[in-house]
Amino acid sequence: MDRIRIRGGRPLTGEIAISGAKNAALPLMAACLLTDGTLRLSNLPHLVDIATLANLLVQLGVEIRMNGAAEGGHAGRVLEMTARRVTDTRAPYELVRKMRASVLVLGPLLARAGRAEVSLPGGCAIGTRPIDVHLKGLEALGAEIELRDGYVHARAPRGLRGAEIVFPAVSVGATENLLMAATLAAGEPRLVNAAREPEVTDLAQCLIAMGARIEGVGGDTLVVEGVGRLGGTEHRIIPDRIETGTYAMAAAITGGALDLLGARAEHLGAVIEVLRQAGVAITESDRGLHVERADGRLRGVDVMTEPFPGFPTDLQAQMMALMATAEGASMITETIFENRFMHVPELARMGADINVHGASAMVRGRPGLTGAEVMATDLRASVSLVLAALAAEGETLLNRVYHLDRGYERVEDKLAACGAEIERIK
Ligand code: UD1
Repeated sequence: MDRIRIRGGRPLTGEIAISGAKNAALPLMAACLLTDGTLRLSNLPHLVDIATLANLLVQLGVEIRMNGAAEGGHAGRVLEMTARRVTDTRAPYELVRKMRASVLVLGPLLARAGRAEVSLPGGCAIGTRPIDVHLKGLEALGAEIELRDGYVHARAPRGLRGAEIVFPAVSVGATENLLMAATLAAGEPRLVNAAREPEVTDLAQCLIAMGARIEGVGGDTLVVEGVGRLGGTEHRIIPDRIETGTYAMAAAITGGALDLLGARAEHLGAVIEVLRQAGVAITESDRGLHVERADGRLRGVDVMTEPFPGFPTDLQAQMMALMATAEGASMITETIFENRFMHVPELARMGADINVHGASAMVRGRPGLTGAEVMATDLRASVSLVLAALAAEGETLLNRVYHLDRGYERVEDKLAACGAEIERIK
C-alpha cells in the first residue's frame, strides 16, 4: 500500500491548477443514463472514484470513451458517454460499497428504464449516512420501493409523475437523484428545501442543456416541468471548491502564497470570510484566487459546518489542522455528519491540542506541530494530515493513502511543484 512522506516547514509558493470537481462529475456522469444521446463532459478529474462510477455505467450498458490529452494531459480529461440502451439496471454491492455516490444511478435508471436494483450502501467511516430521503422522494414521484437482500428494488412501470417533495433535511445526493428523476416525469415535480451546493447547480445547468425544464436553479425550490425525452450535450465541469479550499489552507498553514488557477470565489460561500477572519488574505483575479497569510500567526476563529453557502463539512478537517497552529482558541462544530472527528487523534499525535465534546471540538492553537507516523481514515481527514505535515517540524509518514487518491488529483505533484518536500513511497 502506498504511503506519503512529508518533511514540513517550507512555505508553499507558486501556482496550482484546480481540477474539475469530483462531486460535480459524479452526478453529471449518472445523468448520461437519462438520454440515448451522447453526453460529453470536459474538465474531468483523474480520480479513483470517477473510474469506479465509469465501471458501473459500463455494466449498465453505457458506451464510454475517455480522451486523456484533449485539454493537455492531466489538466482535464474529456469523457464521452452514450447510453443508447440501458441493458442492465443493477448497481451491485461490490461497487456501491466502494463508493456511496453509486446510489446516484437510482433516479436516472428509474426514470429511463422504469426499474432499478441498487445495493444499500451501508455505513461509512463518517456516519450512518442512510438514503431514506432519496427513497421517500422517489416514492412521492410514484415509484414502488421494496428493500430486500440488502438491495433497493425500485419500480415505476407506468413512469414517474409530478409531485411536491419537501426534503426533511438538506441532502446534496437526494436533491441530485430526485432532480434527475424529475426531468423525465409527467407533470410538474417540485423539490422544496433542495440543496443549493454549486454541484447541484452545475448538474441542473447540464440537464437544462440536455433539454430539461427546471426553474429556480441556485435556490432552495426547484420546479421541474417533465419532458418526454432528453438529448446529449457538452458540459464543462466546475472547478473543485473543496480542492480550492484545501490548497488555500495549505498556503495559509505554511505561511506561503499560492495562485489557485481556475478557482471561483462564488463557489466557496462562507469559506472566504472565515479564512479572512483567521488572517488569510484572499484576492480574486481573472485567473483564479491568490491566497497568502496576511501577517504574523493565524488567529483562532469559530466555525460551524452547514449546507451551502455555509462552511462545508468537507473542509472541516482541513480547517481544524489550520486552527491547530493558530493563535488562540477555535470552536469547530460539525452539524452534517455525526462521526467526522476521526482526524482528531491523528492530529493530536502531531502535537495538536484538541478536545472533543459531542459535535464540537475545541482547538487550542500552538506555534508548532511535529511530524509523526499517522493514518488516513477518510478522504478529507487524510488531507488534513497532509496540511498539518506541511507545517510541522520534521518528518510525517501518512499511511492508507488510497483515501487521498479518491478525491485529490496528483496531490503530491501539485504540492511538490510549489516547494513542498513530499514523496510517495510505493
Ligand atoms: C455529498 C458529498 C459529500 C459531502 C456531503 C455534504 C458527493 C458525492 N458527496 O454527500 O462529499 O460531505 O454531500 O455536503 O457529492 N441523510 C439522511 N438521509 C438521506 C440522505 C442524507 O439522513 O437519505 C443525511 C446524511 O446522513 C448526512 C446529511 O443528511 O448527515 C447530509 O448528507 P448528504 O447531503 O446527502 O450527503 P451526500 O450527498 O451523501
